[in-house]
Amino acid sequence: MEIRRELGVHDVQSCIQTWITVDPQGIKIIETDTGEMVGACGFVKNNEDIAFLGLYCIRSKYQGYGLGIHVYNAAVEHAGNANGALNAVPGKLELYRDKGGFPVVETEFKCLKNFTTDHVDPRNLSSAIPKDVSIEAVQDHHLPALFDYDYSVVGFERKFALALNCQEKKSRTYVAMKNGACIGFGTIKTSCLGAGRVGPLYADDSAVAEVLLKTLIISLPNVKGLVMNTVSTNISSKKFLKKLGIPLKEELTRMYTKERIDVDTKKVFALFDLNLTPF
Ligand SMILES: CC(C)(COP(=O)(O)OP(=O)(O)OC[C@H]1O[C@@H](n2cnc3c(N)ncnc32)[C@H](O)[C@@H]1OP(=O)(O)O)[C@@H](O)C(=O)NCCC(=O)NCCS
Repeated sequence: MEIRRELGVHDVQSCIQTWITVDPQGIKIIETDTGEMVGACGFVKNNEDIAFLGLYCIRSKYQGYGLGIHVYNAAVEHAGNANGALNAVPGKLELYRDKGGFPVVETEFKCLKNFTTDHVDPRNLSSAIPKDVSIEAVQDHHLPALFDYDYSVVGFERKFALALNCQEKKSRTYVAMKNGACIGFGTIKTSCLGAGRVGPLYADDSAVAEVLLKTLIISLPNVKGLVMNTVSTNISSKKFLKKLGIPLKEELTRMYTKERIDVDTKKVFALFDLNLTPF
């Protein structure tokens, strides 16, 4: 987290802990003989078939000595035969495509990094909730419905990660329920730079997503700004960011080792994490 803070990246420690509980060997680190950590690369197996590469970094004074590729190769070996996905920062697309083993480049969307360190005002978002829908703080009895809903959005099972996600410290999760079924959910966590970070945030209906987002922001006061990583094809999330005054900071390119993972991005209002899982 110290290295990531140095890079100015809003990662969430508890979220990384969640995913290394799912895949304990999923993040490789590189250190000096004296035990100073100089970099890392994760290739976290979400399951046997899907892995996500991220957190790839080397402390600036150690860059350019072949340490990056070393830890990268260790991570690649760990992922084995799984279809790998990653989000490339600007300027790194060619590296991953031509030398890094990620030939499949997503052309339908970009992943968008949005954040502000200013206070955001949740009153700028609507509270109008569709009929028969309730927004509830997550409890154990919601989990089976939440797991089903997540599966319906991302197309693979993430029960263990989701159960841990709902228990992370300094985080809040809310579910949208309609007639006993989950029709959306969202989590807000505290980033390593002290901002609130929204994600995942999924819903069938953008009005439900907006109320979930408002509820999440209100539920975690005393944070320094807001982070929300979105998908360029989700127009509603762009509107929410505009209402909250959160600017776009970077466009990342989604890439794969074998094949695209296709989901309905209209239901994805904020990505779970840019470094650990595809949506
Ligand atoms: C990207 C980063 C981790 C590379 O680390 P590094 O230690 O400086 O890289 P290395 O010294 O190991 O590079 C040695 C060679 O391997 C190549 N290489 C490095 N990472 C590679 C990868 N993932 N795939 C293929 N080749 C790679 C380099 O291009 C270089 O090739 P060259 O000798 O032909 O120029 C480092 O620059 C960094 O931390 N950058 C900031 C964070 C960042 O941008 N991360 C990537 C997010 S997508």
